[in-house]
Amino acid sequence: MKQQLANMSEPCIVVSGGKKLNGVVKPDGAKNASLIQIAALALVEDCFVTLTNVPGITDVEDEVEMLREVGIHVKHHDDEVVVSGSLKAFEFSKTYGSKIRASLAFLGSVIPKKGEVILPMPGGDKIGPRPIDIHVDIMNAFGIDVEIKGQMIHAKAKKLPLEGQTIYLRFPSVLATVNGILLGVHAKGKTVLHNVAKEPEIVDLTNLLVKMGANIRGVGTDKITIEGVEKLHTTYHEVMPDRLEAGALLMAIVMSGGTGTVEKTIPEHNEPLIDILRQVGATIEVEEDKIIVLESSIKDGFQAITRPFPGLATDIQPIITPLAFKHMGISKITDTVHPHRFDHANEMKIHLGAEIDKVDNAIYVNGQKPLHGGIVTGRDIRSAVSLINTALSIDDEVTIFGVEHLSRGHSKYLDKLRSMGAEITLK
Ligand code: EPU
Repeated sequence: MKQQLANMSEPCIVVSGGKKLNGVVKPDGAKNASLIQIAALALVEDCFVTLTNVPGITDVEDEVEMLREVGIHVKHHDDEVVVSGSLKAFEFSKTYGSKIRASLAFLGSVIPKKGEVILPMPGGDKIGPRPIDIHVDIMNAFGIDVEIKGQMIHAKAKKLPLEGQTIYLRFPSVLATVNGILLGVHAKGKTVLHNVAKEPEIVDLTNLLVKMGANIRGVGTDKITIEGVEKLHTTYHEVMPDRLEAGALLMAIVMSGGTGTVEKTIPEHNEPLIDILRQVGATIEVEEDKIIVLESSIKDGFQAITRPFPGLATDIQPIITPLAFKHMGISKITDTVHPHRFDHANEMKIHLGAEIDKVDNAIYVNGQKPLHGGIVTGRDIRSAVSLINTALSIDDEVTIFGVEHLSRGHSKYLDKLRSMGAEITLK
């Protein structure tokens, strides 16, 4: 209560739920794909790279500022980021890099050019411990010494150019895979990365790098092979659609009990989510670039378990949680990737009357207990979205704090919901 009163002067979202959403909606370009691509563009030299379909979110603004901090020229207008020039420095301030997790990818893009980087420890969502040991191991394998002091990472290569390496990742970490790829792009000879992440954002990054002249094979499988090249060149790339925003919009329609279409998306990116929705009784049709909700009543409880791609994404876990309130049975949701990522469930339990038990890396949700209105706080991007979507299904008013987290990951999410008939105000 004390915390909630302290929040009262901050912006908040008020949802009057119980209205069925209906219509056609489209996600923006992918946040996580854009962020790793912008960081990768520290590799430019004497060329222009244009990214389009970049979402208008604060994390992107922060990363653009990071490129500028090290002397890269960036024009950022609407959904377009144009990068040119070359690296003038290798030291970043704490101002921007400490706010986002993807800033870690500058390890991979600055060291091959400058032999050295000074980067703040990353920020981003507080969803449990997020160590960087795999990143450090990859750098060490490339002959890069790493020291962490006063929340700054200082990494220095023994020599340049780096030499190609064969590395086995003990977990297919997304950003560590990014760093392995970026360090390999200019390394002499062959780099082989085993047990890598297969997330679509990794595929989209390598599509960009290959267009720039990098030689990368095997992306989307467990093993990536990179033959080092000396220079990259000018190109243009449209960032993939955001699969997590598509999933959130899909769930918003379902939570409201409505019907509608998420268009300009890649349905294969959300197969595990679509599969669960079908298992519990929703009627979902898929076309080439559309996911269509024809019927959204839910007949069964469900079990969901997150895994690295192609499994159910951990980022979808908070977004799928409210589905458990739409059925009278017990549902179990397990997060094996981020085992502590249940802040949204805690908010639902304490402030909206949900009956949820957490055991280890799982929650058990009793759908028999109806939710009521209340005041909640989203403390990371996906939990803010999860709470907004939950509110759409409650026949009462829910106030959601944590607007800054929504702005970090989504542009105009509330407008997208309003366009389908949601009653939402930003105060
Ligand atoms: N891990 C380690 N050591 C490491 C790196 C990771 O133990 O050196 C562990 C983590 O603690 C975690 C697991 O590996 O348990 C997965 O972490 P991963 O490294 O794959 O995550 P990330 O690369 O830091 C990206 C996304 C996250 C998303 C995860 C998992 C970006 C900017 N972030 O983070 O996105 O949850 O992959 O898919 O791409 C979000 O968008 O809401 C978000 C948190």
